[in-house]
Parts: sequence; structure tokens; C-alpha cells
Amino acid sequence: MDTPPVPFSTLIRTASHEQHTEAETSTFMSDMLGGRLGVEAYARYTEQLWFVYRALEEGVTALADDPVAGPFLQPELERTAELERDLAHLRGEGWQQRATALPATEAYAERVRECVRSWPGGFVAHHYTRYLGDLSGGQIIRGTAEKTWGFARKGDGVRFYVFEGISNPAAFKRGYRELLDALPVDDLEKQRVVDECKRAFALNTALFRELGQEFPLSAA
Ligand code: HEM
Repeated sequence: MDTPPVPFSTLIRTASHEQHTEAETSTFMSDMLGGRLGVEAYARYTEQLWFVYRALEEGVTALADDPVAGPFLQPELERTAELERDLAHLRGEGWQQRATALPATEAYAERVRECVRSWPGGFVAHHYTRYLGDLSGGQIIRGTAEKTWGFARKGDGVRFYVFEGISNPAAFKRGYRELLDALPVDDLEKQRVVDECKRAFALNTALFRELGQEFPLSAA
């Protein structure tokens, strides 16, 4: 008897598990969440996310009617406005003029834009890697940031991690996984999407590496 096929949501999670651990335990993340870095490191990280999410959310407009990526583009996920509120709080007026993308951030945003322009399946990989992560581990990051740097609970500084439009994240994630399982592409394309997810994790890890170089522990 044939064994039932592994659902795509399981496949993509399993395939990226090792890289998830690598990202989670990167020096920068560990130092930042271990309370060993100042709020400036957190602000710099948030600023980098702003560049990445602008690229991701340009995709929302461009791919709204796409049969593969379209179903994932739910407005309650969008983060750009929240990042802008956090950065105004963290950096003060005029932060936009002073914001600069690290080389790894440029490369990450450019890869997302490339997918927006020419590969909806690849965009789904980037969408999954960020938003499902934000709904999961992001909640741990929020709690730590509130405690470490004294932000108001779910207030300015950590709004990026607060999904006002999603009252039940566990249920939302279940729905998201159903969308992944119903992805209307063949097995070869699914494999390519998994590979792009690994690339997305690698882009995040590269960003953490550069942030780690900018905020070495000895200078904290
Ligand atoms: C210290 C940092 C992090 C912590 C503590 C963390 C923690 C977690 C936890 C506990 C889950 C499981 C949630 C569940 O089973 O529902 C999860 C899922 C996830 N995380 Fe992270 N994470 C971190 C960093 C990251 C990063 C940097 C990324 C990628 C950019 C990421 C992407 C994901 C994704 C895509 C999932 C969903 C897996 C799935 O269910 O398909 N995480 N994270």
C-alpha cells in the first residue's frame, strides 16, 4: 500500500528545522535575547527588518491576484506600519533619513524583490519564513525585549510582534499550513520552494552575522 504523501507544511518545516536552530542560536540572537546587548542593537535589527518587510509587502500589491502567492497575502499580517511606529519610538524623528541597510539586508531584500518580480512560489517561501516565524518565536522575542529594555507590554518598540488582527495565532497558523498544503504547484516546484525557504533562512543568518559584527559583546 502507498504511504500517504507528507503534507507540504510538514515538509517545509522539517526541511528548515536545522537552519531554524542555527538562526535561533546565532551569536547575535543569543546575545540580544540574553540581555547582553543594549537597545541600540535591537533598534538596528528592527531597522533592518523594515527594509526586508518593505520588500515583502511590495509583493502584497504586486501578487494579490496571483493563484500561487495570492491566498497567503492576508492584510492582518502586514508589518511595515508597525515597524515604522517602533522605529519612530526607538530612533526618534527623522529616523527614515538616517536608516541604512547592511549589505546582508540589501541582498535579502533584493532576493525578495526578485521573487516578487518573477517567481510567486519563491515569494511564498519568503513569506512563510518570516510571517510564520513572527507568529511563533516572535512572541518570545517580544517578551524578552519588553523585559530587557522596558517597553510597554505590546506597546511602542515591540508593535512589530503584535498582530492586532489575529486573535488566535495557533488557529491562524493552522489555516496558513492548510494553504501551504493546498499550494497549486507540482512536486518539482514544491522542492524548489523548500530550497528557497532554506535560502531565506540563510539570508537571515547572514544578517545576524553582520549584526553580530557590528555589536560584538566586548563593545556592548
Ligand atoms: C531567538 C529566535 C527564535 C526563537 C526563540 C524561535 C522560536 C520558534 C518556536 C518556538 C517555533 C515553534 C512554534 C510552533 O510550533 O507553532 C518557531 C517556529 C518558526 N520559526 Fe522561529 N524562532 C526564532 C527565530 C526564527 C528566525 C530568525 C526565523 C526565520 C527568519 C524563524 C522562523 C520560524 C518559522 C518559519 C516557524 C514556523 C515553523 C512551522 O511551524 O512551519 N524563527 N520558532
